[in-house]
Amino acid sequence: MGDPVRVGLIGVGGMGSEHLRCLLLLRELAQVVAVADVDPAARERAMAKVGPGLSAYEDYRALLGRDDIEAVFISVPEYAHKEVALAAFSAGKDVFLEKPMATNLRDTDEIILAAEQSGRLLQIGLVYRYSRFFRGMKELLKVRGEIPRILMMWCKEHRVSFPPKRWYHFQETTGGAIVEKDCHHFDIFNWMMECRAKRVCAFGGRSVLVPGGDYLSRWPGLEPQLIDYGDNVDHAEIILEYENGSLAHLSLCLCLRPTDHSLGFPLEIGAIGYNGRTMLSDVSQGWIKFKGGHTALEETHDMRDRSDAEANAHAGGMQEHVEFLRCVRTRERPYADGIVGRESMLPAFAAEKSIKEGRIVHIEEILDEGLLPRQPYREPPMPG
Ligand SMILES: NC(=O)c1ccc[n+]([C@@H]2O[C@H](COP(=O)([O-])OP(=O)(O)OC[C@H]3O[C@@H](n4cnc5c(N)ncnc54)[C@H](O)[C@@H]3O)[C@@H](O)[C@H]2O)c1
Repeated sequence: MGDPVRVGLIGVGGMGSEHLRCLLLLRELAQVVAVADVDPAARERAMAKVGPGLSAYEDYRALLGRDDIEAVFISVPEYAHKEVALAAFSAGKDVFLEKPMATNLRDTDEIILAAEQSGRLLQIGLVYRYSRFFRGMKELLKVRGEIPRILMMWCKEHRVSFPPKRWYHFQETTGGAIVEKDCHHFDIFNWMMECRAKRVCAFGGRSVLVPGGDYLSRWPGLEPQLIDYGDNVDHAEIILEYENGSLAHLSLCLCLRPTDHSLGFPLEIGAIGYNGRTMLSDVSQGWIKFKGGHTALEETHDMRDRSDAEANAHAGGMQEHVEFLRCVRTRERPYADGIVGRESMLPAFAAEKSIKEGRIVHIEEILDEGLLPRQPYREPPMPG
């Protein structure tokens, strides 16, 4: 498939380090040439991992100025995504951009337009799109016909808080916790239901991670820290109506105690079909179960992915790199492109607005804030 792609990483904190680790396991596909991060400690950690030969810059523009770098992974916080992504497209780089694409729709659309105008690739870090687990779910639902038409779907993510880094906890720097976190889950709803969200009703608040609170974060690799600041919701309930009349529900809790690690943080995703068949799944354990409906057959599918487990990565964490690097060489459009990324965020923007304004929000209203018309739902072919 040609020479390894010469890659630069911008932002090598938590997620950037994950990208670096995966890329170093894919040496026949990628050569990590340089990193950029404003934090010297992050640069030093990257240098220690890669060894001599890696350039490390404080200013990402120095990295982008290098003609030998073909593609960049952008893993700075989302408040800086637009600035860095636009500069990367101007410098002629293909871009892997972490989710959420931006903190608001206008910036999201500027990123999509800049990608189109530059003719460079844009892949969004919607990692589940690349997982054996969710691709398998899609196959079971649609191709095998377990639930060809979904009546209702739900997602329950109950977990510890975001990392104890200030930017993660404010609406201004994230677009809101629902934007930051749940674009992943809204993308799964869109993808499995093959439809666009129409309107959203949400409730939520910040009740535990508050001044005077006692929430002590014990994030792996960081000193224990009290999180008693921020204005993002720490719990929310969100109901969505889709254009085809199907419904979805998302329950988010971001304030389980770190000692509740023993719960295993199930990310429960379920669906009920018009045919009455029910699906329940837990990506953290790697199983998808079907029960009832048109057949009495109860089935459990083991959907664990050895390549993710070996890399200790998120579900899809290895494959998203493999496919991005392949797209750089073949010039195919990435599976999780800017439009998929944008659709994953529209329900999140609507949910944040619904909580603030205490009313049902139509996606149409959110579109007023953007630059692009909404495209009809399209089902991109699943990469081979
Ligand atoms: N796909 C996923 O599942 C997933 C998981 C975690 C995080 N993320 C996303 O990755 C992004 C980063 O999250 P994180 O947890 O790594 O945050 P982080 O704070 O751990 O790391 C961000 C890094 O960017 C650096 N940085 C900030 N501004 C910069 C700039 N202008 N130039 C260069 N470096 C800069 C910081 O110094 C830091 O090292 C976020 O958008 C987050 O939503 C995605």
